[in-house]
Amino acid sequence: MNRKEFFRTSALVLAAAAVGSSFLESCAKTSTTPQGPSVNFTVDLSQAAFKALNSMGGYAYSNGVVITRISTATDGFIALSQTCTHQGCTIAYQATSMIFVCPCHGGTYDANGNVTGGPPTSPVKKYAVTRSGNILTIKG
Ligand code: FES
Repeated sequence: MNRKEFFRTSALVLAAAAVGSSFLESCAKTSTTPQGPSVNFTVDLSQAAFKALNSMGGYAYSNGVVITRISTATDGFIALSQTCTHQGCTIAYQATSMIFVCPCHGGTYDANGNVTGGPPTSPVKKYAVTRSGNILTIKG
């Protein structure tokens, strides 16, 4: 191997190592484990702050959780953590397109908390919602 071949081979080896390292790093950041704090609280659907939840498509925020009415069934609610899994900004519900959007870098999540766009690589936590009369319990 002459000097020119040595440098060419070395450059290729270094480039391959850099690509491999970058690939492994990006894979390591991806997680299917939902991220979000543990919660256990109630909301009263008869209170003004939560009356929107009595209608299909209505939503409200409480304790770092976005609660959304997704069907007319009495138990048709979902609750997701508002903490974006990318860098922790606060997620909001976009009722017109029925997605959950992070305003910081455009991360988006579906109704199950799965990432549908932007830089987040982990889903947000989805909480159990149970109803008793006008009281919703959000827990998880
Ligand atoms: S902090 Fe939410 S997309 Fe970056």
